[in-house]
Amino acid sequence: MNKIFKEFRFGHGALLRNRLVLAPMTTYSSNEDLTLSQEEEVYYKSRSKGMGMVITAATAVNKNAQAFKLQITARDERYLDSMRRLATAIKSEGALAILQLHHGGRMNIPGLYKNQDIVCPSCVKANRDYAVEPRELKTSEVYDIIDNFVRSAKIAIDAGFDGIELHGANTYLLQQFFSPHSNLRDDEFGGSVEKRMMFSKTLVKRMIELRKKHAKKEFIIGYRFSPEEIENPGITLSDTLLLVNELASKDIDYLHVSLGNYKATSLRDKTDKELIVKKLQNVINNRVPLIGVGHLECLNDLEEAFSLGYDMLALGLIALSDNNVVENLKNNLEPNKVFRREDQLPTNMYNRIKKWDDSLLDRGYSFE
Ligand SMILES: Cc1cc2nc3c(=O)[nH]c(=O)nc-3n(C[C@H](O)[C@H](O)[C@H](O)COP(=O)(O)O)c2cc1C
Repeated sequence: MNKIFKEFRFGHGALLRNRLVLAPMTTYSSNEDLTLSQEEEVYYKSRSKGMGMVITAATAVNKNAQAFKLQITARDERYLDSMRRLATAIKSEGALAILQLHHGGRMNIPGLYKNQDIVCPSCVKANRDYAVEPRELKTSEVYDIIDNFVRSAKIAIDAGFDGIELHGANTYLLQQFFSPHSNLRDDEFGGSVEKRMMFSKTLVKRMIELRKKHAKKEFIIGYRFSPEEIENPGITLSDTLLLVNELASKDIDYLHVSLGNYKATSLRDKTDKELIVKKLQNVINNRVPLIGVGHLECLNDLEEAFSLGYDMLALGLIALSDNNVVENLKNNLEPNKVFRREDQLPTNMYNRIKKWDDSLLDRGYSFE
C-alpha cells in the first residue's frame, strides 16, 4: 500500500506523486483534421486525476504512421497547439504528461487515409485478415522516419510534455524492425538480432541527443516493448532479453513491458513457468525502472505486482470504467467496472470497447 502512493523520482530528476500510470490508450476520437478534440481533452483531464503519470494514446509521427481512424498526430508544427492542449489537460490535474510516439507500419488498415503508403522493414504481410503486402522501406526512408520521430519529440518538448514514450510494442513499426518475421533486410537495419535492434537503438540515441540540446534535463524518455510474438519466425523471449539489456544500458528513464497480464509467462514456450517480469528484472538489474501493465484492477493486484518487481504500474481498462480509480484504490474500494458514456469517455472509444465485450464480460466489465 505504502509503495503505491509514495513519490517516485526518475533517474533524471522528474518526480511522480505516486507510482500509478494511465496506460496509453487510443481514443479514435480526434477532430477530422487529426487535432485533439474537445471530447479527448475532457477525457484526458478526467483520467489524469490522481495519476502519477499519464501516457497518451499512440500519436502518429507522420502521414504513413497513422494506424487508426481519427488518431492524433504530432507530425509537424501545425499540430503544436493541439499537443499543447493535450499536455495542459494532463498537467492541470497534477500528473506528468508523456506523449507516446507511434508508427503503425504494416499494421495500418488499408484505405483508412487517402494517399497513405503501408510500409514495413520488408514486404511481408502481417498475419491479419485485413493486412496487405507492405512496401519495403528504402534505407534513406528509414532515416527519414527516425527524423520524423525526432521532430515529433521536439514538438512534445515545445508543447510542454514532461517526456515521450517510444511505442516499440503491440506489433507496430519499432517491433516490426526487431522482428525476424517482418525484418528480412540486409542493410544496417536488418540481419542479425543486433542489427534488428538498430532502428530502436538509433531512435533512443537521437532522443537522448534531443533532450540534451532542447529539453530540460528531467525530460523523460521511455520505451514500451512487447516481449514475444507468436509468429514463426517471431520475437522470442531471449531476443527480448538482449534488447532489454541494450536499452537498460542507455540513458533512458524507464522501460514499459506491454503484457495482457502482469503475471504472464511465455506465450511461445508453455513449459516455461517463470514469470516474464522475473526474467526482465534479472537482466535489468535495477538499471532502469520497469512499468508493468495488464489486468491490474484492485489494490491486491497492485500490491502483488509490486512484490513481483515492477517499479510503476499502468492501468488500462479499469481507468476507463472508473473515472475515480486512483481515489477508490487509495480507499481500498472496489473500482467501478461499468463503462458509461457519460463518464467522460469519447464516443468512438466507448463504441470500440463495446465491440470487444465478450472478453470484457469475462473480466467482470459491463456497459451502461
Ligand atoms: C481502448 C484501448 C486502446 C489502447 N491503445 C493503446 C495505444 O495507443 N498504445 C499502446 O501502447 N497500448 C494501447 N492499449 C493497450 C493498453 O495500454 C494496455 O496495455 C492494455 O489495455 C492492458 O491493460 P489493462 O488490462 O489494464 O487494460 C490500448 C488498450 C485499450 C483498451
